[in-house]
Amino acid sequence: MKKTLRNAVLIVVALLVAGAAFVYSGLYNIAADEHHWRITTVLMEMLRTRSIERRAQDIQVPPLDDPKLKLKGAGQYAEMCVMCHLAPGIKDSATREGLYPQPPVLSERMIDPRAAFWVIKHGIKMTGMPAWGASHDDETLWSLVAFLQELPRLNGEQYQEIVRQAPRDEEMSNMRDLQGEPQQDHGTRTHSHSPHTSPHK
Ligand code: HEC
Repeated sequence: MKKTLRNAVLIVVALLVAGAAFVYSGLYNIAADEHHWRITTVLMEMLRTRSIERRAQDIQVPPLDDPKLKLKGAGQYAEMCVMCHLAPGIKDSATREGLYPQPPVLSERMIDPRAAFWVIKHGIKMTGMPAWGASHDDETLWSLVAFLQELPRLNGEQYQEIVRQAPRDEEMSNMRDLQGEPQQDHGTRTHSHSPHTSPHK
């Protein structure tokens, strides 16, 4: 009996040492263009889905039908989300192409408002999905959720139109002001804050 216990402890210690050696060795390829094994993907997706469901279940959803709220969300979406999640008429972006996991195309699915709010507010670890709650208040986050309910119903023209009418995002505009106007004789002008999206006819 004692011997069995000692062997079990030895095996556990050996596994821990092997695990630590593997982590430290650098053998694991962290590259985003090298994809997970199928089993890893399945397990991680289940972990993500259950984690979100559990945390989102008690969130109280405010009324989302207000057209002004949706309009605000449209502007936010065009500023902060379209480069990863695309939109009707926008079929690809340079940012999205190399992301792993690939951000879902949000115009192709209806997401439960509670889950959407939770994910937008808190983000998802090691995926590139930011926690927008760090920089935006709940009202703004709900405007995005309200717009996401509308998005699958829009065609390319309707999407462009609602974005054109929408108020601009204050946080993003502040950042633009901080960066200042680009100098004329200076070769450093970048377009880093314009989403690298290509409208698709
Ligand atoms: C840098 C890229 C990036 C940006 C910018 C980004 N997301 Fe995401 N988002 C992701 C990725 C990647 C995932 C999927 C992660 C995964 O597979 O678990 C995701 C997941 C989501 C989901 C969950 C979808 C589902 O079906 O469960 C929602 C909702 C979402 N994002 C909304 C937004 C909104 C709204 C914005 C803008 C405020 C935004 N995202 C900006 C990369 C991004």
